[in-house]
Amino acid sequence: MLLRELTLSDEDTFHWANNEAWEEHFVFAHYFESLAQNDFNNYVKILPELSQGFHLPSGHVPCTLLFAFDEKGKIVGRTSIRHELTEFLKLVGGHIGYGVVPSERRKGYASAILKESLKYIKEHLPQIPKALVTCDIDNVGSIKTIERNGGVLKDIQEKRRYWIGL
Ligand SMILES: CC(C)(COP(=O)(O)OP(=O)(O)OC[C@H]1O[C@@H](n2cnc3c(N)ncnc32)[C@H](O)[C@@H]1OP(=O)(O)O)[C@@H](O)C(=O)NCCC(=O)NCCS
Repeated sequence: MLLRELTLSDEDTFHWANNEAWEEHFVFAHYFESLAQNDFNNYVKILPELSQGFHLPSGHVPCTLLFAFDEKGKIVGRTSIRHELTEFLKLVGGHIGYGVVPSERRKGYASAILKESLKYIKEHLPQIPKALVTCDIDNVGSIKTIERNGGVLKDIQEKRRYWIGL
């Protein structure tokens, strides 16, 4: 599994992954519709800019969206790495949000994506000494993923909230 930025040559696999049967509450491609207006070339261009803090809707913080590819270059998931925490992110979203394409689940991708996301933060965002990662109270797959990556349960409010030291 390789976690990296989206490039123009990823268009077909991006559309395939985006059209998979995601849970209703889960957004696979943040800002694709709203900011990039469903235009893939535009999306590839604005993602690095969003990471630098440009174009952000009010109340949103800079975030880096990275996509997970299998050995054949197919997208199998994605991660969203938020550079700061708002009150909402503290309670609900955390620093890292990840998802695995439904047909690619139970193959270890989530654990690998979280591991690489933590590595990314350590290398690129030194201002974050520990990452907040949250999940739904009954999301067994995500609980295992977080705990396997060193998550220490902070509390359970709207979500289960974990700290992972970097
Ligand atoms: C939660 C999610 C990320 C798990 O992805 P995944 O690639 O299937 O996870 P992994 O294969 O790395 O599995 C991690 C562990 O959880 C277990 N697991 C995964 N899904 C599970 C499920 N639905 N029920 C029970 N256990 C599950 C796996 O078996 C594995 O444990 P094991 O090695 O002891 O068997 C995926 O189901 C998903 O994208 N869900 C929708 C979005 C979401 O909930 N994101 C997380 C919120 S931040």
